[in-house]
Amino acid sequence: MSQLHFVTDPELTPELVDELVEVWTDVSNAGGAVGFVPPVNTADVRPTAERSFARCDGGPDHLLVGFDPDGRVACWLMMGDTGSPLRSHWRWLLRVMVHPKHQGQGYGARLLRAADDAARALGLEALHLTVRGGTGTERFYAGLGYTEVGRAPGAIRVAPGDDRDEIYMMKRI
Ligand SMILES: CC(C)(COP(=O)(O)OP(=O)(O)OC[C@H]1O[C@@H](n2cnc3c(N)ncnc32)[C@H](O)[C@@H]1OP(=O)(O)O)[C@@H](O)C(=O)NCCC(=O)NCCS
Repeated sequence: MSQLHFVTDPELTPELVDELVEVWTDVSNAGGAVGFVPPVNTADVRPTAERSFARCDGGPDHLLVGFDPDGRVACWLMMGDTGSPLRSHWRWLLRVMVHPKHQGQGYGARLLRAADDAARALGLEALHLTVRGGTGTERFYAGLGYTEVGRAPGAIRVAPGDDRDEIYMMKRI
């Protein structure tokens, strides 16, 4: 298993943004539940990505990137601020993704453990997330200490006639 090097809030150079957008596009086209329905291209993903990254560039959210030994982006996620002073002790875990060529090799587990460390270093006490029902991904999070705390039936309309539950999970860190 190759080494991963995790960086919280790396400098968002144009090259890094391009790579993150490419990974987001590849993950989406491989069927990942990260906000898009395939097929998408980088131009589809870029506006959402740039809005998201702007919030990480000294803003309220944080970006965590796992680089492979060649310095390429292997996996990444964001920790999203709720905007509420009453909820400043936790963050949303957003856009959790491992490049398809690396999936199923333990990278995702390492990414989430790195997120725990990063969140602790930021003084946070919990991470919350939502999962698209019907993907099975809740088992991935459960294996890493997340507990299902709620479910909104049919809240996600993937396509007409294909409504999925939104599963709400959290972990105290
Ligand atoms: C979900 C994802 C982050 C998991 O990362 P990964 O590197 O493939 O997962 P790992 O190899 O670290 O797997 C860790 C464990 O979770 C399990 N697991 C991983 N993906 C799973 C899934 N989709 N459903 C059920 N279990 C899963 C693995 O079997 C493994 O179990 P084990 O410890 O008993 O062997 C990755 O597959 C991905 O990027 N998927 C597409 C994007 C996406 O859907 N993100 C989730 C948004 S909520």
